[in-house]
Amino acid sequence: MIVYRKQTDKLIDWNIRQYDEETIEASRVLGEYEKTNLWRIAPSADPVHPAVFPVELASRIIQFYSYRGDLVFDPFAGRGTVGIAANQLGRYYFLTEKDPTYAQYAKRLLSESNLFCEKSVQVRSLNEFTELAQRSSRLRSIKDVF
Ligand SMILES: C[S@@+](CC[C@H](N)C(=O)[O-])C[C@H]1O[C@@H](n2cnc3c(N)ncnc32)[C@H](O)[C@@H]1O
Repeated sequence: MIVYRKQTDKLIDWNIRQYDEETIEASRVLGEYEKTNLWRIAPSADPVHPAVFPVELASRIIQFYSYRGDLVFDPFAGRGTVGIAANQLGRYYFLTEKDPTYAQYAKRLLSESNLFCEKSVQVRSLNEFTELAQRSSRLRSIKDVF
């Protein structure tokens, strides 16, 4: 796994201070955590998409690297597993997927579970995606996206 972070001279505790106590408390990862670098998670299969993540994998990453109410972006959405996990954990999601078949499929799965917001799953060409990525560095809040 590779974790990227925007270049900054700020330390991780600066990040924490951007959230109120209630959000920090609600985002706390409870229970046992994996102490090795080997995660044992059963694989997932899907009748439409050939390479899906288990929800458990997405859930762990989201819990470790975001807070409640954050916006989780998955540029390679597939069937929308990250959106499902984000919603279950009280995060917003924004997904892009280049294959219209998979994008429609993700929209269907998310709406069947009542998790779908019209603008949350989008089919993007590479140019559109590049424009979005450049714009996202100027975004200040979720309202700028939706
Ligand atoms: C391994 S799958 C992701 C599966 C997803 N994590 C899930 O659980 O459903 C990778 C996805 O990225 C999409 N993809 C590949 N290149 C892309 C690009 N440049 N922009 C957007 N989506 C892309 C593929 O169509 C494929 O659905």
